[in-house]
Amino acid sequence: MARIHANSIVNDASIRELHRQRTASSWRGRLRRWLTPPLPYVLNREELLIDAPLGQWNLYIGGAGAQPEGYLNLDLFPLPGVDLVADAESLPFTDNLFQRIECDAVLEHVERPEAILKEMARTLKPGGFLHVVVPFAHPFHEYPRDYRRFSIDALLLMNPGLQPVKSGWRTGPTATLLVFLLEYAKLWAPKALRPVVHGILGWLLFPLRYLDLLLFRNPRARQIGNHCYIWFRKP
Ligand SMILES: C[S@@+](CC[C@H](N)C(=O)[O-])C[C@H]1O[C@@H](n2cnc3c(N)ncnc32)[C@H](O)[C@@H]1O
Repeated sequence: MARIHANSIVNDASIRELHRQRTASSWRGRLRRWLTPPLPYVLNREELLIDAPLGQWNLYIGGAGAQPEGYLNLDLFPLPGVDLVADAESLPFTDNLFQRIECDAVLEHVERPEAILKEMARTLKPGGFLHVVVPFAHPFHEYPRDYRRFSIDALLLMNPGLQPVKSGWRTGPTATLLVFLLEYAKLWAPKALRPVVHGILGWLLFPLRYLDLLLFRNPRARQIGNHCYIWFRKP
């Protein structure tokens, strides 16, 4: 399905394909998932060590194909798990409604990230929390477009009047090396062999991901960290 989005027409084919791969119940789909190597990253547990309980109303932005429990799930496309189809650049909600807003790996896909940050700040309740996750060093991935990358400094620069509470790295430098190495190897493979190359290299390399458990607290992780996060609170 195509949607007219600000200056362009966008297509949900890449997001539908991602969802199909994750959920296909055919024997091919299941075999493919079974052979898929573990993810090339570990998550930083520090990120979620924050006292920010869910409230009566909580908003998850960009959760197509996911079912985030306790959240109203808003996405640009009507895919499984989505409660409300809308463009987050103009949220169809009253001011001061949500206790928590989650915006995870979405801002790189939107035309005007500042507009979404402003909308999230507007619809957040005083005392409510906004959690933003963005890629800093990550391969190109169109869901449905891919416009940019962010540092923690960039998120602070775009802060729409909220109080920054905590920031850091969700996925670290080793994740960056591994995701780029996998993409690089696939550049040399014919299309039909790319899943095989990904599978073999992915299984061989994934144990290296645990090195990030040592690197998360290293201040130099920011040189080549993979995804960073920030928690904001509305005063
Ligand atoms: C990379 S995916 C997010 C991944 C998700 N957090 C997860 O872990 O599965 C980006 C999502 O943002 C949605 N999206 C992109 N632009 C949007 C917009 N302007 N408003 C609402 N959702 C948008 C896409 O349709 C897609 O589902």
